[in-house]
Amino acid sequence: ELRKPWGGRFREATDRLVEEFTESVSFDRRLALHDIRGSLAHVKALQKAGLLTEEEAQRLSEGLKAIEREIREGRFKFRMELEDVHMNIERALFERIGPLAGKLHTGRSRNDQVATDFKLYLIDETRDILSLLKDLRQVLVAKAEAHLDVIMPGFTHLQHAQPVLFSHHLMAYYEMFTRDAERFREALKRLRISPLGSAALAGTPYPLDRELTAQELDFEKPAANSLDAVSDRDYALEFLFNSAIVMMHLSRLCEEVILWMSPEFGFIDLPDALCTGSSIMPQKKNPDVAELIRGKTGRVYGHLMALLTVLKGLPLTYNRDLQEDKEPVFDTADTVKRSLKLATLMVSGLKPRAARLRAAAEEGYTTATDLADYLVMKGIPFREAHEITGKIVAYAEEKGVKLWELSLEELRRFSESIEADVYEWLTVEGSVARRRTLGGTAPERVREAIASARRQLESE
Ligand code: ARG
Repeated sequence: ELRKPWGGRFREATDRLVEEFTESVSFDRRLALHDIRGSLAHVKALQKAGLLTEEEAQRLSEGLKAIEREIREGRFKFRMELEDVHMNIERALFERIGPLAGKLHTGRSRNDQVATDFKLYLIDETRDILSLLKDLRQVLVAKAEAHLDVIMPGFTHLQHAQPVLFSHHLMAYYEMFTRDAERFREALKRLRISPLGSAALAGTPYPLDRELTAQELDFEKPAANSLDAVSDRDYALEFLFNSAIVMMHLSRLCEEVILWMSPEFGFIDLPDALCTGSSIMPQKKNPDVAELIRGKTGRVYGHLMALLTVLKGLPLTYNRDLQEDKEPVFDTADTVKRSLKLATLMVSGLKPRAARLRAAAEEGYTTATDLADYLVMKGIPFREAHEITGKIVAYAEEKGVKLWELSLEELRRFSESIEADVYEWLTVEGSVARRRTLGGTAPERVREAIASARRQLESE
């Protein structure tokens, strides 16, 4: 029977079911290294406050570092009866250096300890995600640059709308993932505020230098209010929300990859290495990676809702409900990171089928807007031009031909303003080239967007 660190007032052993129900070490062991960093900083504050001699501080630190090595090498044995990662490490320290270990928890509570650990952990995960987002953005830009000559149909309502550059389409995703990176970077500001020194909820009588521990742990500053510091989980919610948006963007990209891979579209090919087959249908080559990323988006949304619901209605300050913050966040971090890696692989392996894309761009009267614009150029008000062009489209559709397959004489039946120069307005190349407004799909604009993305990526 193991004595609990909090066992002084208890006369009975903890019920086994209660132990199993309340433990968190099975998952919060993931915070072990962050916990040790936090403790090392706390030792410095204790020494500065005169609560530890230099020699004691040194023995505590060395003990903690030895445990750190055990953890890194996978030799550390976590025990469920010790409830959580914090008490496991404290007990290991006691077993290693004796009663001096009992001084470590002076002026500290697991409440400020766990909040500190969790923030340190999320800072690391955020930086990993930023770097994975950067990889994906880089691959998108490289793909866009490699296929600047490919024209595809742009869609609204999943109906052919206007021709666009395939590169322009890819660069739209570059923008989304750049915003996602901005959001994570912005959230770092609030992550980098140190709860350490808030103790259980009210602060502590010991003169702990919270600026010192904040600095030691690379936080920007200490949290201003001890009650808030131990009960705040906004930073975890922000992490989940920012992750949910990344997953939503990935899911939209994946949905397009899945559609584009179907023979009905036939817009792209994916390498065999990134697809899987069917156990019964020998001909199948399926985009399962894209489907799984799309599918995993659901669990990340679920985690966001789960934590929002846990926090709703919690009175200040710490409540054990807060222990439920970890699993959703851990699973989210794992899911987002793996999805980003796979999406990067997928984008870099994706091959546009240029001829098919171009043929598709010519289907569905995608240059009808250009015909209306031509009429505007000839002095006709746009609404009228729209009406005339609509009639021409209906006529062509009935005849089963493309707009440029109509003769000048046929076109002129709808408007006397139409002349021989109309035909340059009807090609998909011409349509794309004319969209030169800032942010438009004209090749020179897209080249500029690519160049500016490259500068941005280099500066990060
Ligand atoms: N395992 C706990 C958690 O994850 C640590 C804090 C426990 N504090 C307490 N007073 N029971 O939230």
